[in-house]
Amino acid sequence: MDRDRSKDAKKTRIGGRALRPESLMMSYGYDPRLSEGALKCPIFQTSTFVFESAEQGKAFFEVAYGLRERRAEEHTGLIYSRLNNPDLEVLEDRLTLWDGAEACTVFESGMAAIATTLLAYARPGDVILYSRPLYGGSEHLLQHFFSQYGVTAIGFMAGLPSAEIESLATREIAGRPVAAILIETPANPTNALVDIAGMSDFARRLANGDRRPMLVVDNTFLGPLWQQPLKHGADLVVYSATKFLGGHSDLIAGACLGSHQALAPVRGLRTFLGTMASPWTGWLLLRSLETLKMRMTASMKNARYVADFLRDHPRVRQVHYLGHLEAEHPMYQVYRRQCTAPGSLISFEVDDGEPGAFRFLNALSMVKLAVSLGGTESLAEHPFSMTHADVAVEAKARLGLTPGLVRLSVGVEHYEDIVADVAQALESV
Ligand SMILES: Cc1ncc(COP(=O)(O)O)c(C=O)c1O
Repeated sequence: MDRDRSKDAKKTRIGGRALRPESLMMSYGYDPRLSEGALKCPIFQTSTFVFESAEQGKAFFEVAYGLRERRAEEHTGLIYSRLNNPDLEVLEDRLTLWDGAEACTVFESGMAAIATTLLAYARPGDVILYSRPLYGGSEHLLQHFFSQYGVTAIGFMAGLPSAEIESLATREIAGRPVAAILIETPANPTNALVDIAGMSDFARRLANGDRRPMLVVDNTFLGPLWQQPLKHGADLVVYSATKFLGGHSDLIAGACLGSHQALAPVRGLRTFLGTMASPWTGWLLLRSLETLKMRMTASMKNARYVADFLRDHPRVRQVHYLGHLEAEHPMYQVYRRQCTAPGSLISFEVDDGEPGAFRFLNALSMVKLAVSLGGTESLAEHPFSMTHADVAVEAKARLGLTPGLVRLSVGVEHYEDIVADVAQALESV
């Protein structure tokens, strides 16, 4: 039987009606006829695949290694699970639906996705621009790994107008080629925004001959439900799929999405670095995606109650929550343009700095004290000493990573229970 699932299993319309991603998450890209009629995609726990003939094996390799153009109707045959595997292919097809991407490549972690993506584009002598604060692991990779290979990482503050970022960064770039602009918006953990369309224009102005910086957006915090960066000019979107996409705090994974052309070097390098996800991780993610919209919607709604409660609490000095942005805020228009909901990440400043934050975290009962986010359960952590411990102290102050800051990832529990736990823990501050 023809393995090309695109014919039957990739239908996205009923008559004239385009089906929504949540309606397609149970079926898209999987043909039961290829798996003994199994309703669900099985776990293809195999390292390699049997060719029907030597000629077929040769043809598969020719296509996979780009030795010749793919013929009309020819697909990439299954070869070896470092190159491709049905669980990963179905997952990649389904992930493209949310972001409106042409293609997707999945990885065994978010860091594997980010590292492989940047390595695919950066060359010695290049600059990588990045927004700050950035996830601690990504910042470490840029400052401590890429610097050893002649790649200079230059950070700029999230939350500034694009024109200001452009004039400050242009001076620091000093004419060097720029491989990529990596932005995280909203920023982790301050929720400061970066204008995706503004950065896309900047990337175009930095073009040099036929080389243009790739605009890479880490969309872990809001995506893919509440922000779709490809629609605003991003070239590539990366995810820690460990977070909302996985959603149950029981797997580590990553993804990168974009056009076939932009993704091709990333996918190619994944094969040779071996940073692909395993079939089991792929299968777990397929299961998670069926409830993605429900989970993200429930936690987003809960977060509003928690953020409003925190804003009115006498022991809380400041709350960083996108749903509280008001029309006169400099980032309000950016929020309205590129985000469709405020998500479920809140950070807030308690009285008495680190001792106050620690008393709060130690007093939590139902909400667990753990790093990570985007799971069904609510989690709280202390960015200053945990996820962002590696950031230099002076930079922490500039970026709003204060000792009294707590990050809360709101889960799907009953909102009154979350508020009750936060309320009793704040008594300890
Ligand atoms: C925004 C963001 N990007 C990337 C990562 C790295 O992802 P992973 O832990 O899946 O490697 C994280 C992890 O916390 C994150 O929060």
